[in-house]
Amino acid sequence: MEIFHHIDSVRKALDAAREQGKTVGFVPTMGNLHDAHLALVKQAQGLCDVVVVSIFVNRLQFGLNEDWDKYPRTLERDSHKLRDIGCRYLFCPEENEIYPNGMDEQTRVIVPSMAGVLCGASRPGHFEGVTTVVSKLFNIVQPDIAIFGVKDYQQLAIIRRMVEDLCIPVRVVAGEIVREADGLAMSSRNSFITDQERPRASQLNRSLNWAKQQILEGERDFLRLEDEAREQIRAAGFKPDYVSICNSKTLEPAANDDLEITVLGAMFTQGARLIDNVSL
Ligand code: PAF
Repeated sequence: MEIFHHIDSVRKALDAAREQGKTVGFVPTMGNLHDAHLALVKQAQGLCDVVVVSIFVNRLQFGLNEDWDKYPRTLERDSHKLRDIGCRYLFCPEENEIYPNGMDEQTRVIVPSMAGVLCGASRPGHFEGVTTVVSKLFNIVQPDIAIFGVKDYQQLAIIRRMVEDLCIPVRVVAGEIVREADGLAMSSRNSFITDQERPRASQLNRSLNWAKQQILEGERDFLRLEDEAREQIRAAGFKPDYVSICNSKTLEPAANDDLEITVLGAMFTQGARLIDNVSL
């Protein structure tokens, strides 16, 4: 595996690959790689000739009181894992490579219709940071295909919309959620869940699935279902952030006759904010 820290050098390697007619797949990450990330890389390997993974803990998408400084940085371990599964290129730039003019001066990309709701409501500026860095990474890597996990459902929907609105020539592919045996969605932030909380941490998933089941059985009082799901989360000892039954594409509150519905939720444990979603 070749490791690059600079834009020029990763571009040069990818230009050479493209000249040989190879297609490029891209998996952007913030590192601390677990099985769900590796599944995205394997999916990309099945779709493209060469795969680039980026590892960059993007400060622009973290709020002032969030966990940017605590976010686990495990580059050595991550690169071994990528090497073991035959990843071809790793791009892990320093902050000044991505934001040479500083973050305050950085040109921003915003998807206004979807960035302020759900996770965006409790993490102001988060999705602006995501779309800004992802559009930069797309310009650097120029992939044919980019893969994003469905676990970050709102992020995936926003990136699809950005790609459509800005005519970015990349195919965005969704990677299925990888779960622990009890249903907890794999996430780098799961390492912040205490041992005491861990047996109950799949409550978010259980409550979202409960709401999904109610809808499948014909329940259409979505506000009541959201309230009850939040109550279940509270009863398990966690603080719900939101549970929302949404139109899968627009992320607006679902209408009674919507055919594609996704139930999204977020809750706080003592040390982490966890998110999950289930689609009907
Ligand atoms: O999902 C993530 O890990 C990040 O939001 C991403 C897409 C790598 C952008 O920093």
